[in-house]
Amino acid sequence: MSVPVAPGRLPFLGHTLPMLRKRFEFTANLRGQGDLVEVHLGPMRTYFVTSPQLTHQVLVTDAPKFHKGRMYDKFRPFVGNGLAVSSGTFHLRQRRMMQPAFHRDRIAGYADVMVRAARELVEGWRPGEVRRIEADMQGVAVTIVGEALFSTEIGRRAIDEARRSVFVIIRNGIVRALSPGFVEKLPIPANREFDEAIARMRAIVHEVIDSRRDDDTDHGDLLSVLLLARDPGTGAPMTDDQVFDEVITLLTAGIETTALALAWIFHEIAANPEVERRVLAEVDEVLAGRQVTIDDVPKLTYLGQVTNEVLRKYPLWLVMRRTAEEVELGGVRLPAGTEVILSPHTMHHDPANYPDPERFDPDRWTPERVRQLPKGAFVPFGGGIHQCIGNHFALTEIAIVVATVCSRHRLVPDRPVRTKFTNAAYPNDLMMKVVPR
Ligand code: HEM
Repeated sequence: MSVPVAPGRLPFLGHTLPMLRKRFEFTANLRGQGDLVEVHLGPMRTYFVTSPQLTHQVLVTDAPKFHKGRMYDKFRPFVGNGLAVSSGTFHLRQRRMMQPAFHRDRIAGYADVMVRAARELVEGWRPGEVRRIEADMQGVAVTIVGEALFSTEIGRRAIDEARRSVFVIIRNGIVRALSPGFVEKLPIPANREFDEAIARMRAIVHEVIDSRRDDDTDHGDLLSVLLLARDPGTGAPMTDDQVFDEVITLLTAGIETTALALAWIFHEIAANPEVERRVLAEVDEVLAGRQVTIDDVPKLTYLGQVTNEVLRKYPLWLVMRRTAEEVELGGVRLPAGTEVILSPHTMHHDPANYPDPERFDPDRWTPERVRQLPKGAFVPFGGGIHQCIGNHFALTEIAIVVATVCSRHRLVPDRPVRTKFTNAAYPNDLMMKVVPR
């Protein structure tokens, strides 16, 4: 069976330029062309998946036949062989050792950090002040993941460094992933900035690990789980390098994603008066004037729908895989080593499953409507063996931060928002005025 080639291919550069230039428009246009469409990243042929069924096959049913793909390779200089880039039996072993760090009881412990960080955030706001909300959300997300990782004093400097460097690394990583290899070797400021940010993070995180290696106390933080974990087969601990890779992975994977969802939630709440009314009413009813706790999170059901709708509308753009063996996908035989691109954004904006997809409508997430969605149609956290390990962490963090803000303030847009792109649409200059309630 022949696979259609995406339009706009250039010699040597393939589809890289139109893809980086048009982003969502480029990938949305592939939907009409087939379940699988050929896209060339520079000279490399890849297969872009446009249907929920094939997305589910790659992520879940055939997951062991795929390894992480090219995009993740580009993060290797930074995250080494951390969970987000590793595959196969090594990934499985690491995932088992790290899973306890995200157990419900453990998240209840991190919830204290989340509540404190959210309270400090709103206490720093002055009535009537105009805030750059995406920057505030980045700040709160770095603090939360940073403090959940490193509860001890020496971790402070690592948290400060993460605040400086994580976003530089993420922004440059996606451009590298889509560009031909020579681009990352050019002596341009973006590459220098990327390399320097990586070097600084490496130095400080290694310092933190060194200071904790001989300490076998469980400090209740993520780092304790990594340092105290033992391979069930051999009883061996993780090497310092592997602990380092996992720390950096959690910082990279856990901050921008959550900050982005939080920023868009405040934007959408303010843009939709009926949504705002319902969120505020629910927060007032559940909290009844007190501080939010982790026990309130499951009771904030409408806020849960609003969060789902934000995760639908503003998800990751691209997720990549590489076939580890020959795989049949949509009637096409892909040899081992073939790069496959999945797109949560394309899935979440398919009018077949989400009529009027640009409209923000939390009522899409009533239980009856959720049951009608095909598998693979809603994948904000991916799925299968590589499903986001931090999904409950993130959902708890989002509920706690939004409830804390909404219990005290309304955020009112000060000017129209602009959008910039990393591997997702990011609000740029989300200026909002703090109006005490
Ligand atoms: C709203 C927030 C978040 C979103 C939308 C998100 C999204 C995702 C997605 C789509 C994947 C799968 C990627 C793939 O299949 O290739 C993933 C994996 C991952 N995420 Fe998240 N994430 C979020 C928050 C977090 C947090 C808070 C953490 C940790 C503190 C985290 C850590 C990870 C890790 C380690 C992986 C790799 C898992 C594996 O391959 O076994 N994420 N995330």
